[in-house]
Amino acid sequence: MTAIHTIERFIFDEQPDTAHGDFTNLLYDIALAAKLIAYKTNRAGLVDILGRVGATNIQGEVQQKLDVFADEMIVRICDHTGRLCAMASEEREDIIRIPKEYKKGSYVLVFDPLDGSSNIDVNVSIGTIFGIYRCIDWHLRGRVEDVLQPPRKLVAAGYILFGASTMMVYSTGSGVHGFTLDLELGEFLLSHQNMRLPDPPAYYSVNHAYFENWPPAVQAYARWLQGQNGDDAPTLSSRYIGSLVADFHRNLLRGGVFFYPAEKGKPNGKIRLLYEAGPLAFLIDQAGGYASDGHRPILDIVPSDLHQRVPFYIGNRALVEKAEYFLRQGNY
Ligand code: AHG
Ligand code: MN
Ligand code: MN
Repeated sequence: MTAIHTIERFIFDEQPDTAHGDFTNLLYDIALAAKLIAYKTNRAGLVDILGRVGATNIQGEVQQKLDVFADEMIVRICDHTGRLCAMASEEREDIIRIPKEYKKGSYVLVFDPLDGSSNIDVNVSIGTIFGIYRCIDWHLRGRVEDVLQPPRKLVAAGYILFGASTMMVYSTGSGVHGFTLDLELGEFLLSHQNMRLPDPPAYYSVNHAYFENWPPAVQAYARWLQGQNGDDAPTLSSRYIGSLVADFHRNLLRGGVFFYPAEKGKPNGKIRLLYEAGPLAFLIDQAGGYASDGHRPILDIVPSDLHQRVPFYIGNRALVEKAEYFLRQGNY
């Protein structure tokens, strides 16, 4: 019989000897928020939660109720535990400070509370993405500088996928592990230990509707992925959901590349460095893959703005490096 590991047990067993419990408990907190968001998401069609709130977020996009719910749930679970000194959410303009009445801890949480919001109303997979940093200076902890760290400094990252089943996938720097929520037990159970990107890869994922807006080098790369261009072209099929977490998760299990390049009118593409690209870059590195902005590793980019966007190529190393090759040739 195979052993059954709950996420709590696994996090505890995996913690380094130096851990004092804060980090471990922070991951539990996120797993708890994940269960609450999963519960709400699964009921989305049943209660009056669908439809837009009407307010627009800092990105200029219309916020939907589940975005607000997920954002508030994470903040409410994490702001008073004494484990964090600051948070930053895709849905909020400024960093989230720890209220004065609570103790400040040493960790920093960055998150995209609900990724793939255009898919909420149509019953397609959505997700939550998170990353955890340590504060730069204990005495000054809680400043915006603690948030604006390059993704290489992450001490953990992960996502929750609200799909056919709910999964939490995370890494603390020793492999990527996936847990599936057992709805009857209310527990995440270890289902995917030490996930590695398969090779050869199966898929490429991009929004082809923007093809005419891409620089010629990106167009040439897309043709190469389709096998139209070059002797070394891979044999890939195409999949694109429009929820980054879901596209990433599928490609992690099957191998492939996801990209959201720079385009006319969007010089940095759409994906946010802090809440999306950074945490996923940390995970793909741990799974044996690579993430790039087309020129350099995402892990090395120092954010200068909380909501900065970045051209994004992520997946099997050979496929991502080929994008860098095309962009170099095209001088982009
Ligand atoms: P969010 O819902 O957090 O704003 O993110 C949406 C992102 C990402 O999930 C997805 O990959 C991308 O938007 C899809 O954008 P297009 O519709 O332009 O392809
Ligand atoms: Mn998102
Ligand atoms: Mn979002």
